[in-house]
Amino acid sequence: MQEALETEALSILVKSLITYKGRIVGTPAAYYPESNNDITDKNKKVTKDKLNYDQVFIRDFVPVALLFLIKGEFDVKLDEKKEVHVKGKEIVKNFLEVTLELHQQERAKSFLNTGRVLMPASFKIKKVGGKEKLEPDFGQHAIARVTPVDSSLWWILLLRAYWKATGNTNLVHRIDFQEGIRLILELCFSDRFDREPTLLVPDGACMIDRRMGIYGYPLEIQVLFYAALRAADELMDRKNHSNKDIIPAIKERLVELANHMRDEYWMDMEALNKTYQYNVEEYGETAINKYNIYASSIPYANLDDWLPEDGGYLIGNIGPSQMDFRFFAVGNLMSIISSLVTNKQAIEIMNLIEERRKELIGQMPFKICYAAIEDQEWKIVTGCDPKNSPWSYHNGGSWPVLMWMWAAAARKVGEEEYINFASAVIETAGKRLQKDRWPEYYDGHTGHLIGREARRNQTWTCAGYLLAKELLSEVGAKHLKLISFEDYSEPKAKQSKQKQSA
Ligand code: GLC
Repeated sequence: MQEALETEALSILVKSLITYKGRIVGTPAAYYPESNNDITDKNKKVTKDKLNYDQVFIRDFVPVALLFLIKGEFDVKLDEKKEVHVKGKEIVKNFLEVTLELHQQERAKSFLNTGRVLMPASFKIKKVGGKEKLEPDFGQHAIARVTPVDSSLWWILLLRAYWKATGNTNLVHRIDFQEGIRLILELCFSDRFDREPTLLVPDGACMIDRRMGIYGYPLEIQVLFYAALRAADELMDRKNHSNKDIIPAIKERLVELANHMRDEYWMDMEALNKTYQYNVEEYGETAINKYNIYASSIPYANLDDWLPEDGGYLIGNIGPSQMDFRFFAVGNLMSIISSLVTNKQAIEIMNLIEERRKELIGQMPFKICYAAIEDQEWKIVTGCDPKNSPWSYHNGGSWPVLMWMWAAAARKVGEEEYINFASAVIETAGKRLQKDRWPEYYDGHTGHLIGREARRNQTWTCAGYLLAKELLSEVGAKHLKLISFEDYSEPKAKQSKQKQSA
């Protein structure tokens, strides 16, 4: 039974694979079987536009790629008669090469001639005069023209995962790959109109790619930035002369960033109490309320009810007189996986998830953000976006792809209690996903409803489930290493202990 479910999810991924000049280069966001090209949802009799769901998205391909790296070479039964052999690692390599090529192409075109651009959000393959051509979307086609800041950061993380899985240092140290990483980071490091170690980005620059009030310093981007810095620190070739300035810059920034995030974004009862006692209009270096947060902007009553004594989390954003108290799943889960938070904070986030399971997990793991914004606030913040109406889609909807991050976080913290809890929930969720034909997202307070506009056969839903299963399996700890990082402060602590004992 279980096996049939997993074979179905895997076969959707394999059937959807896209080829470019004879090489398999990725999976589109959603799989549309040829027989169903009009995308009529037979259950609901609604015809949906493909929009850009037929494109390979960088962020969507990450869980598929991690799964392929774990599985290596494998056979999949597509139907009664057809079985195919898949070379997982080779597909990931092709993807990394093709996306790097897109990055280079765009750089050459850059009219400011800065030589620095981001990775695209997605790409598709077009036929021009009988020849295949790659068409990237850097945000110039995207709905609301959003900037995909996360793509470049995910790309670095995926390159490191590929390296961990294959040991192919030759590819990583290739001049074009080294240059790719360097240019992405140089763009992140470039001078801006702000002085934080965090990255200042526009709204919709990550998985939440619509207006949702996350402009400024959204958690997801900061955590991915930290993880990408950790990855780059491992990937940069020390013998490559062009890297000589960037290597110390990476180290410096990642320490500053971790300290900043651990101090300024951490919320638990103690931190909440501290904000409750804040003075305002403080000037100068000794200011405690650095961001001049006004008490009446903080939902104390809700947080007092919601925050467990032994739990905590990283808030969504902080800036001038602004603290966004929403819980964002990608940022919090990836902060555990990447060791941006301390081990103690990681346990507290897992405690919060367990104790607030009704709200954060409900019927389908995992809420992309909690709580939803409603009423007048929804009107102002989203621009009256009906797709993001309260408890829908990005605004408090539930996204099965996030299961893999939850599983990875449970594995990273390593306690049986969290692993068993995630395993049991994910097992049940898998059955529902199959019944509902692998939807993109669910709506409602607890995720009972299939998202009104959810695509079916969504590839990162299939991969999110399968990857979660791999991470929770007996050898999950081995797989986790592809994407996780040890606490950065640990080696230093060990060193000083050794010194003391010497
Ligand atoms: C939606 C999601 C985005 C995803 C895309 C393709 O726009 O918000 O994160 O990459 O769909 O699945």
